[in-house]
Amino acid sequence: MGATKATDDETYDRTTEIKTFDETKAGVKGLVDAGITKVPRMFHTQPDPFVQASSSHDDPDKTRFSIPVIDLQGINSGSEQRREVVDKVRGASEVWGFFQVVNHGIPASVLEEMLDGTRRFYEQDTEVKKEWYTRDSSKRVVYNSNFDLYSAGSANWRDTTYCSMAPHAPSPDELPEACRDILIEYSEQVKKLGLTLFGLLSEALGLNPNHLNEIGCPEGLAVLYHYYPACPEPELTIGASKHSDSDFMTVLLQDHIGGLQILHENLWVDVPPVPGALVINIGDLLQLISNDRFKSVAHRVLASDVGPRVSVASFFTTGHVPSSRIYGPIKELLSEDNPAKYRETTVREYSVHYDATGLGGKSALLGFRI
Ligand code: OGA
Ligand code: NI
Repeated sequence: MGATKATDDETYDRTTEIKTFDETKAGVKGLVDAGITKVPRMFHTQPDPFVQASSSHDDPDKTRFSIPVIDLQGINSGSEQRREVVDKVRGASEVWGFFQVVNHGIPASVLEEMLDGTRRFYEQDTEVKKEWYTRDSSKRVVYNSNFDLYSAGSANWRDTTYCSMAPHAPSPDELPEACRDILIEYSEQVKKLGLTLFGLLSEALGLNPNHLNEIGCPEGLAVLYHYYPACPEPELTIGASKHSDSDFMTVLLQDHIGGLQILHENLWVDVPPVPGALVINIGDLLQLISNDRFKSVAHRVLASDVGPRVSVASFFTTGHVPSSRIYGPIKELLSEDNPAKYRETTVREYSVHYDATGLGGKSALLGFRI
């Protein structure tokens, strides 16, 4: 470590830098709008130890490093077709923790409008947008940059708005006007898709098709829409640090830009944008209740000089509402040879622990292992 670095460290006041940024209430987009050409130090990340699959490995059959795309078309037209889909969902959930779905029933026009609504929210007049800026997580709508800004090692190159959509439906005037109508419409459709997917996942676990729905997996829905501005020095920072999701399941809508990657066999694998598709991933709580049968897999989003990139992540979780319901490994899945690997918890307890752990480090699930 050289003398210059030591001097830098002595004079660098991270807390002030973060606070000044937070107080602008304009997020990363505000920095880009102001014309910065260098990434501020609070966003600088440490190099990641894992390499990218595509650039490091031959993949002649193009399947070793490609996430399954599952066509849901046939699930209601005969038990044979449904069984095939269930088999694919099982394989993907056990091996990848991620898959994409097509013919999922949500019209392409609704997906497009949800992405447009996201852009409209972030690109509206900053003074109007600022009204939504808060770190009070009890609010129905929480717009800010980096939920873990004050605790994370480095900040992510993105802004996020969280909206609690279920179990208590918002009244329209609680939602930002820029995307209000589409947010309500999109959430309704995602809720329906959630019931379908939890049905398939139940069957994939060998359970009654209603099992995951009956224990309340689809009850809570938090929709988070993200904005990843184009970055002047993308190699110095990251759009979203490596993390797994804290919920039961996530339905992710991404635009055409790309940058989402999952960690598979210790390699970063791209989740390529597929027009009209939705990305589905298993969350920590489903890994916990499936006793590790299904995997909650680490993922990240690269920063890019192309942008803005927008995405909408719908989290099935009741982490934002009080509930005393207890979740542990599902009894039907346990045996003498397969004893419970996790202790029981509530969604709230798990979410609080997850938020305190923050993005970028070890999985929060480890704290619940027996
Ligand atoms: C998330 C997430 C990925 C993306 O919100 O948890 O992983 O593409 N988002 O924005
Ligand atoms: Ni995620």
